[in-house]
Amino acid sequence: MDGNGRWAVARGLPRIEGHRAGIDAARRVVEAAPDCGISTLTLFAFSSDNWRRPAEEVASLMRLLEWYLEHETGRAMANGVRLEVIGRRDRLDAALCRAILDAERATAGGERLHLRLAIDYSARDAILAAARGVAEWSREAFERALGPAVDLVIRTGGERRLSDFLLWECAYAELVFSRTMWPDFSAADLAGAVREFHSRERRFGEIPHVAAAPHQAWLD
Ligand code: FPP
Repeated sequence: MDGNGRWAVARGLPRIEGHRAGIDAARRVVEAAPDCGISTLTLFAFSSDNWRRPAEEVASLMRLLEWYLEHETGRAMANGVRLEVIGRRDRLDAALCRAILDAERATAGGERLHLRLAIDYSARDAILAAARGVAEWSREAFERALGPAVDLVIRTGGERRLSDFLLWECAYAELVFSRTMWPDFSAADLAGAVREFHSRERRFGEIPHVAAAPHQAWLD
């Protein structure tokens, strides 16, 4: 969800107004996701490295996240959205932790979309935690501990990095980079990214089918 700050600064507004507008974009994307065939959507709301931002911006972001959880729960329930927060909770304040638990409990029955919000999240820390917790070191055990493989990553605001986001899960993810600042990201932009995803040939290390055909004919 990159570009909130730049979107606000370009309009002569404080950065937090960009984050506020980013909430509206998140609402549009969450509503459009099921119709695009998306069953699990993870939004990177606050990375463990975002603690390095000025204290004032961190505090505003935390207040906004709490507000989002408190105010979106009703809409999530109505739309069959199951909310889950991934990331560390031990550094979040008590009111935010309470809002997370309340939202997770209230939306637990949602079956249309599994919406994951990454808060104080670092993929490297999640991998380390999984390594400490699993009984055996296998791909399956790590997938169970970390979550399902990611098919598509959309990064807005012109950035072209993974920035410690779902690193294990993204082993074969398709990456779509958009210059659009997150507050301007629309349902049509989401649909466009999904179309781009479907146009890609996903080989998972195999060879393309067209290349395989002559070899097969020769063997016959
Ligand atoms: C990046 O913009 C965005 C974040 C740090 C995440 C915060 C996002 C929101 C509050 C919007 C949606 C939130 C929810 C809970 C769905 P940036 O500050 O890095 O912007 P820049 O790239 O222009 O500097």
